[in-house]
Amino acid sequence: MPAPGKIPSDSFVSSPREVLQKLSAVIVTGGSSGIGKSFIGTTAKLQPSLQFCNLSRRIPDINLPELKLRHIACDLAKPEEIERAVPELIAHLNAVMPQGRVLLINNSGFGAYGRFPEPNLSEQLAMADVNMRAVLHLTGLLLPELKRRGGAIMNVASTAAFQPMPYLNTYAATKAFVLHWSVALGEELRGSGVQVLAVCPGPTSTGFSLRAGLKPGQLAEGPRMTSEDVVLASYQALAAGRSIVIPGAKNRFLAAMAGLVPKPLAARAAARMIAEKRLPPDRR
Ligand SMILES: NC(=O)c1ccc[n+]([C@@H]2O[C@H](COP(=O)([O-])OP(=O)(O)OC[C@H]3O[C@@H](n4cnc5c(N)ncnc54)[C@H](OP(=O)(O)O)[C@@H]3O)[C@@H](O)[C@H]2O)c1
Repeated sequence: MPAPGKIPSDSFVSSPREVLQKLSAVIVTGGSSGIGKSFIGTTAKLQPSLQFCNLSRRIPDINLPELKLRHIACDLAKPEEIERAVPELIAHLNAVMPQGRVLLINNSGFGAYGRFPEPNLSEQLAMADVNMRAVLHLTGLLLPELKRRGGAIMNVASTAAFQPMPYLNTYAATKAFVLHWSVALGEELRGSGVQVLAVCPGPTSTGFSLRAGLKPGQLAEGPRMTSEDVVLASYQALAAGRSIVIPGAKNRFLAAMAGLVPKPLAARAAARMIAEKRLPPDRR
């Protein structure tokens, strides 16, 4: 058995390109920046024939002449916007690509530094809505289409999912939800033709830290991964039939360590590490 998160190097593992060749379309949330933007850009470079649908508030700014992208503006914190967006999305998919496997990437998400309920309760509730509720809502509405066509679901969790995290408390708990929910869903869908992968990135160079009010590069020492690293590791894990991927050896080690320590101790250690990481208000 390979270690958790380790991508086996056996020859049965197909490449990211081979995985993408079996798809006809990719639905992504949060394609307007960071990891979601890389999911569109990197994937389109690997497999230019794919159709993309993006749900986010802002339009993805991706300069690829051949990109087949339909942006559907959607605030995922608002259930009524999801209800409006999904029929439009399905109608578009069935018009441009009536058959073929579909990949759904639930990527949108954000965090906020502070003692609960800082910065305010509305922000905490919106975080729960985007990071958890929207994942359930979108997946639930799209599951019949995914089962009909076959395909996969990738839910972007985080290494924050592996331990309680004071000062990023709600964020880490939403990601623990996404991780556990995804792995159990994958088990329920075994044999259905729909594969599920929980993607657990560690610190990655995107706008996430600034948005969360965190000092950049401070949650872990050493170089951060790029969004492209996360995307390629995700496709390798999908090709290998894995249910969880933690991109990066150091992130896998830290996640494994967090699992060995009793949760109250892990929370105490995380609190010490994160306590001084608040970005001053004038730099947010
Ligand atoms: N960067 C990291 O270090 C890191 C580590 C672990 C996990 N992650 C996870 O990776 C995912 C992507 O984050 P990122 O690092 O790429 O950060 P990012 O650059 O800030 O991107 C976040 C994306 O989420 C979307 N989003 C936020 N609120 C939304 C809303 N109400 N409705 C629709 N979309 C919304 C944003 O789109 P709009 O603003 O256009 O709506 C944006 O495209 C998140 O789930 C995050 O938790 C990130």
